[in-house]
Order: sequence, then C-alpha cells, then structure tokens
Amino acid sequence: MPNETNSDHKRSIRSYVIRSGRLTDSQRNALDTHRQQYLIDFQPQIIQLDSVFQNSARLIVEIGFGMGDSLLEMAKMDPDSNFIGIEVHQPGVGKLLHGIAEQELTNLKIVSYDAKEVFQFCFENESIDKVQIFFPDPWPKKRHHKRRLVQTEFMEQLLGKLKPGADIHLATDWQAYAEHMMDVMQAIPRLSNVNGANNYWADPDRPGTKFEKRGQRLGHGVWDLQFRKDK
Ligand SMILES: C[S@@+](CC[C@H](N)C(=O)[O-])C[C@H]1O[C@@H](n2cnc3c(N)ncnc32)[C@H](O)[C@@H]1O
Repeated sequence: MPNETNSDHKRSIRSYVIRSGRLTDSQRNALDTHRQQYLIDFQPQIIQLDSVFQNSARLIVEIGFGMGDSLLEMAKMDPDSNFIGIEVHQPGVGKLLHGIAEQELTNLKIVSYDAKEVFQFCFENESIDKVQIFFPDPWPKKRHHKRRLVQTEFMEQLLGKLKPGADIHLATDWQAYAEHMMDVMQAIPRLSNVNGANNYWADPDRPGTKFEKRGQRLGHGVWDLQFRKDK
C-alpha cells in the first residue's frame, strides 16, 4: 500500500481476531430477520440518534458485548436509557438480535464493526452518557499489548464523545491489564477515578457477563474501574 499513512497503519492494529465460531440456526435466523430493525449499518458518518431511537433519552454504549446477555439485561432493566452495543463476533450479534426481538426492546441497537472506527466516525462530540467495556481481550503477551483496546489514544478519542460528567466503566479479570487500565485512565486529564486514586470499584452496578462467569470458574479475580469526565 504505497500511500499508507502512519494513522492508517495504526488503525489496522486490531484489538480482536475474528473467531470462526459457528452460528446456531437461531443466531443465523436472527441475523437474517432482525438486522433491518435492530442493527445500525456502519457508515463513516454520524448516527442520527433521534431517528434511530425516536427519542432523545440518555445514551449508554457498550464495546465488545460478546454474547450480549448482560447488555440485554441492562437494557431491559433500564427502559429510560438508550443502548448501543458494538461487537464484531457474529454469533454474539445474532444472539443479541434474537434477544432484542424476543423481548421487543426498542432501546437497544447494535453496530457490528470495529469500535475504534465507530468512535472515530459515528458519534457527535459530547453525546454519550456512559461507555462500558467489560472483559476486553487482555492480550497478555508483551508483543501483543499494542492490540489492547484500553490505550491512551483510543480513550482520549472516546473521552471527546462523552458528555461532561459522563462515566467510563471498565472491567477485567486479568490483573496486569487492570493495572494497565488504571495507569492509562489516571494519566488522562479531565478524567477522575470515582473511587479515589488507585482504587478499584468494589461493588459495581452491572450484571455478570458470560466471560466473567467463565473466569470465576477458573478462579480469576475481577477488577472494575469507574472514571468520570470532569464537568
Ligand atoms: C473477551 S470478550 C468479552 C465479551 C463480553 N464483554 C463478556 O464479558 O462476556 C471481548 C469481546 O470484545 C470484542 N471486541 C474486541 N475488540 C473489538 C473492537 N475493536 N470492536 C468491536 N468489538 C471488539 C470481541 O469480539 C469479543 O467478543
């Protein structure tokens, strides 16, 4: 690629690998039947929230919802908020589409695309009330650390999309990643650690995720972090 710029190159470092998980019949059926209604097709342009949701409720965005069980639960429990889930794993997208349709939820939509590009193009500045990233791939090997989603550059971009006073909620079951998250987040001006310097969030207000339950079975600890954008 002769004209590739440095930023194009950076964008091509993916924080995920597309896993070749087989779709169940129900997931495939949901992808065929419900995408029109609940999936926002990625375009490099702003998502018109008022027309997508038909209201202007507060917006919560989850990056990497996996199979989507905890996001579905949150959207069901909080009908006064709008939710956008971003995920590239097709079985998870199919499963969540199925759940949204089954529960007839109107406050949860999906974008199936790389979250870095979704944040680059699709949200107005200061338009999001909360971003949550639960159990992002830890990329434990040192040579893979650059693939981690929680990095200064991406978090700063994300911060620009948050309303003043909005929160970022992170969780991981990988201690070294938790420490990395703490270092990255505490170093960003205009973000405060809600639980006090160097403290994790002891009793987070989120349902358990599939990945977390797997980790707990393996005896992993869990670290939640809550950061707030200055008003
Ligand atoms: C380890 S899984 C955790 C899933 C879920 N949050 C849970 O706790 O069960 C991480 C997920 O993030 C997704 N992911 C990673 N990077 C992403 C990106 N840049 N854009 C969208 N999804 C991403 C992966 O496809 C994967 O499903």
